Amino acid sequence: MKLFKTQQELKKKLEGYSSKVIGFVPTMGALHKGHVSLIRKAKKESDIVVCSIFVNPTQFNESTDFENYPVTHDEDIKLLEKAGCDILYIPESVQDVYSNEKPIEVNLGSLAEVMEGANRPGHFDGVVQVVSVLFDIVKPNKAFFGLKDFQQYCIIKKMVAELKLDIEIVGCPIIREDSGLAMSSRNILLSKKEKVDALIISETLKFLQKEIKAGEISDLLNTCKEKLSAKSELEYLTVADLNSLQSLEVLEKGAIYRAFVVSRLGNVRLIDNIEIFV
Ligand code: PAJ
Repeated sequence: MKLFKTQQELKKKLEGYSSKVIGFVPTMGALHKGHVSLIRKAKKESDIVVCSIFVNPTQFNESTDFENYPVTHDEDIKLLEKAGCDILYIPESVQDVYSNEKPIEVNLGSLAEVMEGANRPGHFDGVVQVVSVLFDIVKPNKAFFGLKDFQQYCIIKKMVAELKLDIEIVGCPIIREDSGLAMSSRNILLSKKEKVDALIISETLKFLQKEIKAGEISDLLNTCKEKLSAKSELEYLTVADLNSLQSLEVLEKGAIYRAFVVSRLGNVRLIDNIEIFV
């Protein structure tokens, strides 16, 4: 694996691969098996796998979250080598990423107004900004995103359509620990007790998935919210339409939806979701 610290050197290297299928996995580092699954999928579906590690300041709406974001470059490099990544970009500075920034305007519509868009003002503007810059540097044929951040995946697909980019966005399944806890870079910030209490998130999603029936769902949602609130500080739990991501209170038989949750354990904000068949 080759490591590049400037976009100029990276671009020069990638010029030599213009006839190859380039698969790209953007990350913020503190890598775990969830990220590795994206690299492995990229490896299967592309000739050259490029990964980036950049804790993008513009997508954080809480300065403590940004300051506390774990940085584990040495371990990350070992994991990426093992997973078969070919090229890694760890920018030496924020300026290196944003040096040739042309401000982009993308109409994300109502997708960015719900859930993470409503609760983390400016977050998706920052994500769209950095991913569009990274796409411009790497010029991938395919880019791989985890369904753990389902709304982010939908927004990147919308961005690619709006900007008419010729990039296939590939969604990858959520990787969980044996306990059910969705893998996250933020999990290493949890105390032992918080990590046990955090299991309420995946357990409640599974309960919801099992119990859900067509019709009104407000009673079931309230039961689930009580379960979550007993062990964590619930931000939201909602069942939404797969395409518009709008919250629903009445479900139809035979349809597929997705349930989304964000809850805090101490200072750590955890996000998860699950597919719902009615
Ligand atoms: P980060 O949180 O590092 O995640 C990088 C990619 O890994 C995202 O596509 C995310 O959905 C995926 N991922 C994280 N945990 C996962 C899990 N348990 N199972 C499957 N996939 C998982 O998402 C970001 O970084 C940033 O917003 C980024 C897109 C890099 C822009 O800065």
